[in-house]
Amino acid sequence: MKLLHIDSSILGARSVSRLLSSKIVEQERRLHPALDVVYRDLACDCALHFSAAHMAARAGETLQGAELCSDLELSQEYLDELFEADIIVIGAPMYNLTVPSQLKAWIDRIVIAGETFTYDETGAVRTLLPPGKKVIIASTRGYVYRADTSTAALEHHERFLKGVFSFLGLRDVTVVRAEGLALGARTRNAAICHAQVQIAAIRP
Ligand SMILES: Cc1cc2nc3c(=O)[nH]c(=O)nc-3n(C[C@H](O)[C@H](O)[C@H](O)COP(=O)(O)O)c2cc1C
Repeated sequence: MKLLHIDSSILGARSVSRLLSSKIVEQERRLHPALDVVYRDLACDCALHFSAAHMAARAGETLQGAELCSDLELSQEYLDELFEADIIVIGAPMYNLTVPSQLKAWIDRIVIAGETFTYDETGAVRTLLPPGKKVIIASTRGYVYRADTSTAALEHHERFLKGVFSFLGLRDVTVVRAEGLALGARTRNAAICHAQVQIAAIRP
């Protein structure tokens, strides 16, 4: 069994999403002792912005430059890791109301028509990914965006991630959330404890 562990926080050792994603992986290792874990730290190993040069390469034009060549190799690694993973754990902080641009850059390389999904003539989307994958998102944010708050409409973070995975046919998505992390030590500690309870409740 394979697990793909992705982090995207730029806050290093102070990152809460990194703490939570590592706790989730620890727990998955306990649940599946033979688990094979592949780790990607997008904060230091991030794909370039998808560009006109990438589109040209995809259309079969000759590759220009070493940077583009190695970036396209990285893209292929992202795709291979996604196809092979049974469990995908993503540390996903909210930055400027959505996911970090590093995580968006990863998404830009895995949501590809003809590779991970296809449309049929009726307009229906069909996944090209193997079935049975489980996704666990460690969601962290400074403020609060629950449905009963006045900021709920600004929630383009979990909704976006769930939308992307649903589009790719991945419906088994669990969100572990710690929010209100910027609202003082008490709220922050309570949010982290609550997230750890959510992690303990995850079942195989
Ligand atoms: C660049 C940046 C942008 C942020 N933007 C938001 C935001 O739009 N809304 C919010 O609630 N918190 C925001 N925050 C706070 C983070 O969501 C919070 O610090 C959270 O702990 C980040 O997860 P991390 O600790 O894993 O990096 C931002 C933090 C940073 C560093």
